[in-house]
Amino acid sequence: MNNPQVKRYTITAALPYANGPKHIGHLAGAYIPADVYARYLRLNSKDVIFVCGSDEHGTAIPNQAIKENTTPQAIIDKYHAQMRDCFAQIGISFDIYHRTSERIHHQTSQELFLTLFNKGLLDEEVSDQYYDDEAKTFLADRFIIGTCPKCANPKAYGDQCENCGTSLSPKELINPRSTLSGNAPILKSTNHWYLPLQNYEPWLREWILESHKNDWKTNVYGQCKSWIDAGLQSRAMTRDLDWGIKVPLPGAEGKVLYVWFDAPIGYISATRALFDELSQGQLKFATPQRSFKEVKADDWKKYWQDEETKLVHFIGKDNIVFHCIIFPIMLHASQQYIVPQNVPANEFMNLEGDKMSTSRGWSIEMHEYIEDFPGKSDVLRYALLTNLPETKDSEFTWKDFQAKNNNELVAIFGNFINRALVLTQKYFHNKIPKRNLLPEDESVLISIDTCKQSISESIENYRFREATASLINLARIGNKYLAETEPWKLAKTDLERVGTILNVALQIGANLAILSEPFLPHTAKKLREMLSIQRYTWADAGASELVFEGQSLAEPTLLFEKIEDVVIDAQLLKLINKKKAIELANTPIEPAKPSIAFEDFSKMDIRIGTIVEAETVAKSKKLLKLKVNIGIDTRTVMSGIAEHFSPTDIINKQVTILVNLAPRKIMGVESQGMILMASDREGKLRLLRPNEVVNEGSIIS
Ligand code: MF3
Ligand code: ZN
Repeated sequence: MNNPQVKRYTITAALPYANGPKHIGHLAGAYIPADVYARYLRLNSKDVIFVCGSDEHGTAIPNQAIKENTTPQAIIDKYHAQMRDCFAQIGISFDIYHRTSERIHHQTSQELFLTLFNKGLLDEEVSDQYYDDEAKTFLADRFIIGTCPKCANPKAYGDQCENCGTSLSPKELINPRSTLSGNAPILKSTNHWYLPLQNYEPWLREWILESHKNDWKTNVYGQCKSWIDAGLQSRAMTRDLDWGIKVPLPGAEGKVLYVWFDAPIGYISATRALFDELSQGQLKFATPQRSFKEVKADDWKKYWQDEETKLVHFIGKDNIVFHCIIFPIMLHASQQYIVPQNVPANEFMNLEGDKMSTSRGWSIEMHEYIEDFPGKSDVLRYALLTNLPETKDSEFTWKDFQAKNNNELVAIFGNFINRALVLTQKYFHNKIPKRNLLPEDESVLISIDTCKQSISESIENYRFREATASLINLARIGNKYLAETEPWKLAKTDLERVGTILNVALQIGANLAILSEPFLPHTAKKLREMLSIQRYTWADAGASELVFEGQSLAEPTLLFEKIEDVVIDAQLLKLINKKKAIELANTPIEPAKPSIAFEDFSKMDIRIGTIVEAETVAKSKKLLKLKVNIGIDTRTVMSGIAEHFSPTDIINKQVTILVNLAPRKIMGVESQGMILMASDREGKLRLLRPNEVVNEGSIIS
C-alpha cells in the first residue's frame, strides 16, 4: 500500500488438499487473514483479485481413496464441493475457487514445466527408488511405512514420522513395507527431473535475505534463512505415480509432476480461469461478487507478469519453503512471472491443549461448526481473528470462544448498536435526530479517525489481531460515550441534547458498519441495512457525517446473541467423543491365543444358570454378590461387574457360568464360579445368554 508502484494486488490463499474436511486451524492459518486483507483492499477501491482452489493431486488423494474404499476422482469431487461450500458460508470472498484437476491447470503446469525444461533448467537424474513388485508400481513416500530411526515408531511414513515429527526419506526407514501389498519393497532405478535449487542461492539471498529483511515476518524470514544457510539441494519435480499431471515429455510414461510443482501453479491457473469466465460471462468457479469492468481473457497476465502487481501468499507455516523458495525459483527461472512481495505465514492454532488434527479427531471441522452454529460464522471469524497464531502458536478453546462472543460481541459491539438504535426509536421515531456538537462530542468523533487509522495500519502490516482489537475498541468507545452521557436519563429534561448524543452514536455505528466489513462481513451487512447506509468505502469512514438528520432507520434487530454454557459443554463433549471414537476404530483387535487341545477345553464345565439374588458389596465399587441357580445347586459368585450392571439389571436373568473354577475367597466370601462376559473394544461388558430360556444346568460344549 505504501509502495506507490503498486497498481494491483494478487492475493492467494494456500490450496487445501481435497483429501478431507478442513478445520478451523486452517481458517486461522491462511483463509481468514487473506480474506480480511482482500476485503480491506476492495473497500479501498484497489484493483485486487483473491484466488484459491482445491489441491487435487499428490499421494494424499489416492491414499484417502484407499481409506474410504473409493476412487480418487470421487474423493476430490466430494471434498472440493465441501470445502468450496464451507468457505462460502464463512464468508471467504474468493473471486474464484478453482480446482487443480481442471484442464486449464494441467495446461498451465505443463507449460511452465516445459518452459523450464526448454531453458535447460531441469536436470534429468537416474536413481534407485522403492518399488512394489507385486503391485507393479513405484512407491511414493506415503506408501511406504517402516520403523522410525529416531523414535522406533513402527508406523512411520516414508516422508515423516507422525510420532516424533522427524522428516524422513524412505530409505531411512528400518524394515520398510509397502502399504499396498504389505511386502518389503525392492529398489529399482528410475529417472526424474530435478530443479537445482542451489543454483538460485545468490538470487534468494539478494531477494529475501537482503531486500525483505525488514518487511517479512520474522518467523518467515527466519525459516527462509535457515533453509538457505543449511545449503539448498536439487529437488525432484516429477514422481512415479498414476495420479496427477502427466510429465509432458517423450518417454515419461507413468510419471507425473510433483504435487508441489503443480499446486502453486494453481494460483495462476485459477487467475486464468477467472478472466476466461469473466470475459465470457459464464461463471463456473468464479464468484461474481463485484463488477470487473470490460474484462478480456488475457487480463490474467497483468496479475502475474506485471512488476506493478503486488503478489501476496497467505499460508500456514508448514508451507513456507514451498512459497518462499521453490515456487519463487520456478517463477523467477521462467523469466515470465513476478515473485511474491510478501508471504505472511501464520503459525499453528492448537485446540484445547493439544495439536489440532483431523485424523486424530481432535479438531473442529468447518462443516461441523457451520452445522452446529448456523448463522454464526462471524462469531467464529471473530474468535479466530482475536486469537490468530501470527507470531507464535495460539490456542482455541470453547470457553474463550464463548467469552469472546458474550463479553465482546454481545456486551460491547451488539450492546452499543442496540442501545443507539432502540433509543432513537424510542425518542425520535426511528429518525436520525439533529445534532449540535459539544467539544466532548467532537473528540469522540475524532477518535473514529484514530481507530480507522490504526485498523488500516495494522491490516497493511498483516497484524490482523491488532486490527481486530482496534475495531472492537471503536465499539467500546461508543459504549463508553453512551454510558457517560446517559441519554436515557437526559431524555426527561433535555431532548435536544439526547438528539445530539444519539446522532453521534449513530455516526459511530455507521463507521462500525464500514470498518467491520473485512472482519465481520455478515454483521457489517446487517448493520448497513439497519442504518440504511448507501456509501460504504473505506474512504467514507471517519469523523465526518455518514448518516444524516432526518434519515429513517430500519427496525433494529440483535446483531449477536449470548451463547449459553450448555452449548459450550456439548461441544467439549462432542470433541472428546470424536477423539475416542477414532481411537477406538484404530484400536487393533486382540490377536488370537495359541491353539489348545480339545481335552483342555473339555476340562471346563460351563453351564447356564439363573441369577436369583444380586446385591452390592459394602466397600467395593466393583463387586456384586450373586446367587446363581445352576440346576445342581444354588451357589454364591462374587462378580466384578458392579460398574457395568446394577443388581436390578441382572436379577432373574440367565447367564453363562464356569462352575468348576476352583473356589476363591473374595472380600471374605467364597466365590464358587465365574460369570462369563463379552468385553467389547471399549471394555464394555455384556452378559452371554441363551437365545431362549433353557433348564438351569444346561451344559455348554
Ligand atoms: N495442499 C497444500 C497443503 O494443504 C497447500 C498447497 S498450497 C499451493 O498443505 F500453493 F501449493 F497451492
Ligand atoms: Zn519417530
